Order: sequence, then C-alpha cells, then structure tokens
Amino acid sequence: MLDFNFVNPTHILFGKGKIAEIKERIPAASRVLITYGRGSVKKNGTLDEVLVALSDHTVFEFGGIEPNPSYETLMQAVDMIQTNSIDFLLAVGGGSVIDGTKFIAAAAVFEGDPWDILEKHGEGVLKALPFGSVLTLPATGSEMNSGGVVTRISLQAKLVFMSPYVFPLFSVLDPEKTYTLPSRQIGNGVVDAFAHVVEQYVTYPVNGKVQDRFAEGLLLTLIEEGPKALANPKDYEVRSNLMWTATMALNGLIGAGVPQDWTTHMIGHELTAMHGLDHAQTLAVILPNLLTVCKQNKREKLLQYAERVWDLKEGESDQRIGTAIDKTRNFFEQMQVKTHLSDYGIGKDSIPRLLEQLQAHGLNSLGEQQDVTPDVSKRILERCL
Ligand code: NZQ
Ligand code: ZN
Repeated sequence: MLDFNFVNPTHILFGKGKIAEIKERIPAASRVLITYGRGSVKKNGTLDEVLVALSDHTVFEFGGIEPNPSYETLMQAVDMIQTNSIDFLLAVGGGSVIDGTKFIAAAAVFEGDPWDILEKHGEGVLKALPFGSVLTLPATGSEMNSGGVVTRISLQAKLVFMSPYVFPLFSVLDPEKTYTLPSRQIGNGVVDAFAHVVEQYVTYPVNGKVQDRFAEGLLLTLIEEGPKALANPKDYEVRSNLMWTATMALNGLIGAGVPQDWTTHMIGHELTAMHGLDHAQTLAVILPNLLTVCKQNKREKLLQYAERVWDLKEGESDQRIGTAIDKTRNFFEQMQVKTHLSDYGIGKDSIPRLLEQLQAHGLNSLGEQQDVTPDVSKRILERCL
C-alpha cells in the first residue's frame, strides 16, 4: 500500500427529515446565503423545507446556478455576499450547486483575482466561508469532498480546484429528496459514481486490500441497485443505498493509499466544455475506451475487476478483460446513458480541438503512470466515435 494522510471533516446527516437538523448546525447569528440551481428545489419542496428549518435565521437566496456551474454566474453570488455581509453558505442541490458554492466560499474571501483559484487548481486558497449542503442528486461525492469543478464559458475551460478549506461542514443526505430526479439524472449519477470508483481501483495493484474490497462493494451495489432506481423511483431502500454509495465513491476513503487514474474525467471535462454533454455522458463514452487502450498497464487490476465484479473466472485472460469492458459499457447503456460520441452528434472533426484544449490545460501526461500522452488520448478519443 502507498503512504497516505487521510482526514474527512464533513458531518453527514443521513435520513428522512434530516433537513430539520440544519438549524442546529448553523450558528444562530449567521447571515446565510442559500444557493440553488435552476428551480428543481423550488418545484419539489426541498427549498421550502430548508426555509422552514432556518426560519429563525437571517437568510438570502441565490438561485440559477447551472449544471456545470459557470464562473460568470458564481461571481454574481460573490458580489451578493459582499453587499449583504453574508457569513455562511448553504448549497441545496446536486454536484453543480455544491461545487459552485465551494467556489463562491473560496472566492468571497480570496485575496487576488478569483480566476487564479481555478487556474492554479486551488493552490492559493488559504480560507473560505463556512458552508453546508443539502444533497438532491447522488453522483459526484462533492457533498463530502474538497473538490469542485467550474467552467469559464468565455474560455471554454472547465477546471478542477481542490482545497482542504472547501470540505462542507455538514451535508444532509435525505434519500427522499432524490425521488423527483428524472431518469436521465438517475442514470448520470450511477455512471458518475461507477467511474469514480473505477478510476481509483482499475490501475495497478499495491495490495490495498481494504481499498479494493470497498471499491468492489461499491461497484456491485451500483450494478445491483442502479437499474432498480430507474424501475421504482420511490423505493427508499434503493435510493438510500445509491446515495451512500455515491458519497463513499469519492470522499477520499477508497482512494487513500492507492494509485489513481483520472484520465476519463479530464478528457470528459473538455468534452463538456466544448460540446455541453452532461458530465456522466462523457464518462460513459470515454471509460470503456480508456480501459481498452490502457489495458496493458491495467492488466492485473482488470483481471481482478473481471473476476470479482463481473464474476468472470473462466477462459483466457484477454477474453475475460474484453468481456468485463463490454459489460461495463452495457451497464452504462442499461442505465440509459449512451456510450458513443455519435449518439451525441459529435464526429471525428472535434478530436483535434479536444486534444488542443487538453494540452492548453496542461493535461499531457495523464494516468496512474503519467504515460497517457496526447497521442494516447487521441487513440482513446478515436475509439469513442
Ligand atoms: O438546476 P436544477 O433545477 O436544480 O436541476 C438539476 C440539474 O438540471 C437537476 N436536479 C438535481 N436534483 C434534482 C434535480 N431534478 C429533480 N429532482 C432533484 N432532486 O439535475 C440536473 C443536474 O444537476 P447537476 O448538479 O449538474 O448534476 P451532478 O450532481 O451530476 O453534478 C455535475 C457537476 O459536478 C461536477 C461535474 O463536472 C459537473 O460540473 N463534478 C464534481 C465532482 C466533485 N466536486 O468532486 C466530481 C465529479 O467527477 C464531477 O466532475
Ligand atoms: Zn465525476
């Protein structure tokens, strides 16, 4: 196992009715800015529930954070914070609202140009406003991690930042709040969490037995429960298991002490920035092809994945690996997320510009061995058509 430091300070409030407890988690004298997206939380009553819980607090609202939150929109919230002396943030929504709120929390107290937060991937962040979240879409793990992804529309740049100052203080995970998700977002959430686990698991072995067994448990849960959520959207047990799985998939636990390969995500961010695909759609397209192109580096873990996750124990090794990758793709399709660029109207002519953008963002040596060069990324993308 590799060396690691691990800490996760986020307090999780899991279960029905847990929104009521947020009033005890936010200091009574706070001036709270509630951030949300384009209206789902208004329509389904989640915002009202939050407002009831905070009826003794001074609250302001900032709505309109878009999927793949933009720097342009988030900076408007930063202005609002300064005008109204806000000192606590509460994100109510999916990964985009939580990521956006992390950026707002850091930018509001950042000395210098807030764009540096993203360009330097969080390096210069020395403090942030305190914030909590009420999660409505299990997918990203943002509710219990210290990362965020923000797009600057004017530059077609979708950049990741990380900082220990942007862990949420608390996150409410009430599975009932996910009942109103459209099937597209149920599928997206399952695929995103699946990709997060694979990117921390299908690399090379370091004998991280706990990390491997946890990762396999999360993948098996997604495979078992994901299709049930599409079939029975109001099954509380199914939603609970999916919600906790997505959180555990990217809260630092399974990635501590093991190599990681974020190639699929990095290429995916360029696809979203250029063509507007949903985050998980990009992953469903890229991940099976990344596994195929990089199968030599990943051989041992792919065989372990084939055996322990897909129960493939017979036959020749290459064949088992090929079948495991096919099953991965079929699972994404079963979750109603398409797996070819052509499904989204994107052709070969986009590849040169995607590669240029990857290079412009310094992503020239991706992968657990840093050997996914632009040429390898090109081979991956050519298989995605
Ligand atoms: O905007 P509203 O009206 O709220 O609607 C949203 C949005 O249209 C809707 N939605 C959310 N909860 C709902 C609901 N609709 C009905 N009922 C509910 N309960 O779903 C749509 C998508 O929401 P979004 O927040 O964009 O989705 P997701 O949670 O998948 O977040 C995606 C973003 O997270 C980033 C992605 O890059 C992308 O920008 N990621 C963040 C990560 C992190 N912080 O660690 C890691 C991930 O890999 C990912 O990169
Ligand atoms: Zn993701």
